Amino acid sequence: MDSIEYKKSSISRTTLEYTGKAKKVYATDNPDILWIHYLDQATALNGKVKETIRGKGELNSAISHLLFTYLTNNGVANHYLYTISKTDELVTKLNILPIEVVTRNYASGHFVSKFDAVAMQKLDPIVQEFYYKSDELDDPFINDSQILALGFATADELTQLRQESQVVNKKLTRLFEKVGIKLIDFKLEFGRTKDGNILLADELSPDNMRLVDIETGKSLDKDVFRQHSGDVTVGYHEVLTRLQEII
Ligand code: C5P
Repeated sequence: MDSIEYKKSSISRTTLEYTGKAKKVYATDNPDILWIHYLDQATALNGKVKETIRGKGELNSAISHLLFTYLTNNGVANHYLYTISKTDELVTKLNILPIEVVTRNYASGHFVSKFDAVAMQKLDPIVQEFYYKSDELDDPFINDSQILALGFATADELTQLRQESQVVNKKLTRLFEKVGIKLIDFKLEFGRTKDGNILLADELSPDNMRLVDIETGKSLDKDVFRQHSGDVTVGYHEVLTRLQEII
């Protein structure tokens, strides 16, 4: 079992670079490292609905730590370095691509509302979608030629985003299955290192993946907040506890 080790670090936080929906990102005294602080915040509808939820930052941080550590140990390079407190971690500074990569194993969320698909039907093949990261434009759907024409990524990079997302999907699907959870869909973000290599970034938590209890069908992710169907931290806690048993 992985009980989180908070690493003592000589790195200091400097200026606030960016406040996201559930995180603050700070520069540090090392130009290659960023400091992420997880907030006790949940948002829906691209930030239009916002609520403070006590303990959520800690849960997101702990789950993200476990999932990134698992991926690192299973050959998936990513930006995560180490956790320094219950809500803070250090990551490699990347030039983040303005693209969200969504992978869907089962129909849910916007896939159902857009295509009137049967909710929870198994998707074969697995669906991959790109979205342009823009709150002002509500993260519109974007296709390959649009990405290339706008210079958001190269053709090679798009191939890598697809391949990496498939690898992450296989590894996380198997991991979650072991603890009785079905991975419905998820969103990944990627960035370029200073050498121009593509690396998995952002966070890995029930804020950006749909997770359902295999036995009960209960939702263990942010849908509970989106749909006002209960205390979102209950499911997150369940996910954390189950992952801690095996990672
Ligand atoms: O809303 P939609 O069905 O397109 O979401 C697909 C998956 O991507 C869900 O797991 C959702 O949590 C995630 N997502 C995200 N950030 C967004 C859009 C979707 O984490 N901006």
